[in-house]
Amino acid sequence: MRALFIVTPPGLEGPCVHEARTLGADDVREVVGGVECRGDPAAILRLNLGLRTGSRILLRLGEGRLADLGGLAASVDWRSFMRPSGTVAIEVAGGGSRPGALERQVREEVLRQVPAARFVSAEAEQSVHLRLSQGTLTLSLDTTGPHLHMRGYRQETGAAPLRENLAAGILLLAGYDGSQALVDPMCGSGTFLIEAATIALRRAPGSLRTFACEGWPSTPEGLGAQVRQELRALERSAPAPIVGSDRNAGALGVARRNATRAEVFDSITLGRVDVADAAPPPGPRGILVANPPYGKRLGEARELGSLYRGFGERLRSAFGGWTVAILVADPALGAALRLREPRAIPLRNGGIPCTLLLAEI
Ligand SMILES: C[S@@+](CC[C@H](N)C(=O)[O-])C[C@H]1O[C@@H](n2cnc3c(N)ncnc32)[C@H](O)[C@@H]1O
Repeated sequence: MRALFIVTPPGLEGPCVHEARTLGADDVREVVGGVECRGDPAAILRLNLGLRTGSRILLRLGEGRLADLGGLAASVDWRSFMRPSGTVAIEVAGGGSRPGALERQVREEVLRQVPAARFVSAEAEQSVHLRLSQGTLTLSLDTTGPHLHMRGYRQETGAAPLRENLAAGILLLAGYDGSQALVDPMCGSGTFLIEAATIALRRAPGSLRTFACEGWPSTPEGLGAQVRQELRALERSAPAPIVGSDRNAGALGVARRNATRAEVFDSITLGRVDVADAAPPPGPRGILVANPPYGKRLGEARELGSLYRGFGERLRSAFGGWTVAILVADPALGAALRLREPRAIPLRNGGIPCTLLLAEI
């Protein structure tokens, strides 16, 4: 069992704890900025494949004081994590005035063990992380590669798209478990719909891509295929409708192509509808989720005010009894929705502070 740290977007630590436990990690606990847990090589791969909310998973190699770095780096069997001529990046966080010196010490030890390793600054097969915080140095290895929100399906985006792990986290915070009807009446490139479909299908969100840990010489051969097969055996068909609409035909085209690449198009219904005419699908009430335009340019405020007011009115007239989850960046626009006693959860979307408003209509 290895010690792991799942880096998580702020506000999604809670759902990530639940996910990590479900995916078989041990000793799972929430900490600042993420989730600590333990797992064997199969669990590391299962977490990478199956986590919807995490950003990346770091394997803890050791911890100590600054003066211990040489010993810490020497205690790692770098050959078990790197191909003989693989590419490596060393990232230093909080190194003060000495990041170059810290990086050099690790680089020397890696080269002693893996003499043909090539050091690069981006797109490395393997990233090593050094973090110095309050005198404690942590040495970690990235198990993920490109961050987990890069599922592989979103090759095109609309205006202001949401990161896939934030979209999935919002669905989980709203209580979506894949069994309820789901509507996104301003679906843009379709991120909520596609993430909802993978939840409904119980499909591992990472099933379209590979992960850094799969290239480690120490990862047992065939483990990737075995864990993928285990996860595929859990899949089912979507039990309830997942409906997206937007007034912009171009955005709907992007949503359709993204859903096709994600192999979930058959589980989604798309339509060109203004939010003022959005309607629930037949059947039991469900969850409505939306990320309305938040307006970056001056002059948009008045137009957006009437969009949000109209959206709020449509919710009350057509979606009685539904749960709504609406991500807003501007509190005044959020207030224009006139939701009843919303629960407000602070999140960040692409660095912009936002609030998720959760309410019953
Ligand atoms: C911030 S984007 C949504 C992004 C989306 N969550 C994604 O991941 O791509 C807002 C969307 O609302 C749509 N929209 C704006 N006004 C609308 C209206 N009156 N009716 C329907 N859709 C509208 C825009 O076309 C845009 O696609």
